[in-house]
Parts: sequence; C-alpha cells; structure tokens
Amino acid sequence: MAETLTEIDALLAAAGIEPGADAQLLLGHVLGESRGRVQALAIMGTPIADEDHARVMRLADERASRVPLQHLTGRAAFRGIELEVGPGVFVPRPETESVAQFAIDALAAASLEAAAQDESGPIAVDLCTGSGAIALAIANEVPQASVWAVEKSPEAHAWASRNVARLGEGRVQLVLGDVANATRLLGPVLGRVHVLVSNPPYVPRGCVPRDPEVRDHDPELALYGGEDGLDLVRVISKVALELVAPGGSLVLEHAEQQGEAIRSLLTADGWRTPATHQDLTLRDRTTTAVR
Ligand SMILES: C[S@@+](CC[C@H](N)C(=O)[O-])C[C@H]1O[C@@H](n2cnc3c(N)ncnc32)[C@H](O)[C@@H]1O
Repeated sequence: MAETLTEIDALLAAAGIEPGADAQLLLGHVLGESRGRVQALAIMGTPIADEDHARVMRLADERASRVPLQHLTGRAAFRGIELEVGPGVFVPRPETESVAQFAIDALAAASLEAAAQDESGPIAVDLCTGSGAIALAIANEVPQASVWAVEKSPEAHAWASRNVARLGEGRVQLVLGDVANATRLLGPVLGRVHVLVSNPPYVPRGCVPRDPEVRDHDPELALYGGEDGLDLVRVISKVALELVAPGGSLVLEHAEQQGEAIRSLLTADGWRTPATHQDLTLRDRTTTAVR
C-alpha cells in the first residue's frame, strides 16, 4: 500500500499537485477507509489487491489531469458534514467554513434570546446555496434554527436536493430560483429572518482563476459576478433589506480586495455597522452588517 501511495504522489507531483493528502484520500475512497486508516495500513505494510491498485491508479490519472479530487470521490467535507458533489455544482471551500461561523454564532445568540422570550427558533437564509453547504452546516450546528436556501442553477439545485434529503432532517427548505426574486420566493419569512448568509459568485469578469480545477470544473454561474464581481452582492443587499428583521444580520463572503467596496454599498443601502473580517490566513474574506 505504501508503494501505491508513493506511485500516486509521484504522478500527482508531476502534474503540479502537492503530494500527500490526495493520494491517501483517493486510496481511502477505493478501499472504503478513512484517510487516517489508510495511513495506518500503509505503516503496517498492508498489501493492496491488484484490482484496487488498478482502480486507484485510474482515479490518480484523472486527478493528474486536474479533475477536482471531490469530483472523483463524490464527496466534500464541510465543517461537521460531508456533502455529495460532482460536475454542475461548486465544490465547497475551507474558507467558507469561517464565513459560516459568523452566521452560526449570530444564530446561536438569536436562539438564546428566542428561548428566553419563549419564542420559536431563529430563521436563517442561505442565498446561492450551491451544494447546500452553508444551509446544512447551520441546520447541523444550530438545531433550533429553521433554514431556507435558494439556488438558481438546476444542476446545483439537484445536488443540493440530494444533500438536503440526506442531511437536512426536514429543517432546510430548498428553493429553485434567482436571488433577484428572493422576496417573492421566500414570502413566508419576509421581514422575519435573523441571519441571511451568502457566498455568491464574486470573481470579476476578467479574472479567470489559475487553477484548472476551478477554471475548468466549477460552473461559470458559480464563479463570475460581472465587471467588478459585485453584481450579485448589489442584488443581495437590496433583497436582504426586505427579508431580514430589524436587528438581524447579513453575512457575505467575498474576495480579498472587495471588503471596502462592499462596506460602501451596504452603507449606501442603509445597513448598519458594516465590518470586514479576516480568515485564518489573515485575508479579508467576510463582511457582516446589521439591519
Ligand atoms: C460560489 S458558489 C457558492 C455555493 C455554496 N454557497 C458554497 O459556499 O459552497 C455560488 C452559487 O450561486 C449560484 N448562483 C449564481 N447566480 C445566482 C442567482 N442569481 N440566484 C441564485 N443562485 C445563484 C451558483 O449557481 C452557485 O451555486
């Protein structure tokens, strides 16, 4: 098994992919084992069956052609959950886990307030939900919250439906539609939302991503946000003003250079105390504001 991992690492390194994790995860996928267990089996000198070796090397060849790892395993880890993903849906990213944390913290605080006043749990909305990552993480971590999620792409919506059916426990209402129509699509919660979160497409039109996994495999609709990348942010700011209750929060993911422009447009629309926050790598990636 250790030789197979070395063989895959060499193949991937030649394709510009950092060795280590991908080889272990691909082999784990083929064997039905966790990454940690693969590491342990390799250390113990466990042999690998010929058909498993052939299968993992076929996957390694695809990975070397820069097909995303998550498309090959069919799974993406996000906070405490594992989402089904593949062609047609944006693969959830680790940086979005920190964005979701702001929404989860605000909802946890709203839950406590609601409980103290004998009210029902808080309402969360995830616009541009993709695979359902943020909505389902919220449902998983804030059990009192009811969650609504909107996605425009039918392909992405189909992936989200599968994930909601498996992980949503009846607490995530998934809606197919454009965020421009969110006030109509989310009529039942209009003006009552405690936290509205979104990771919208925000890449400026001219900035084509360098990594082939992103450029060639993430859907265009998931990436590009018009000339300056902020087309959807402008729409979300407006619809969120109608959806969010006074005192409720808006949480937006964005690119490192977009914090100032987003704070300005939120202020102009009437949001209070816009603030931009850094991720674990000290880059400005989240802006929050209060209705
Ligand atoms: C960057 S991805 C984020 C997906 C998911 N929230 C995540 O963090 O993994 C943006 C998503 O917005 C969806 N989208 C783009 N334009 C939209 C619109 N006008 N209305 C609703 N969804 C839209 C895309 O299809 C894509 O799934």
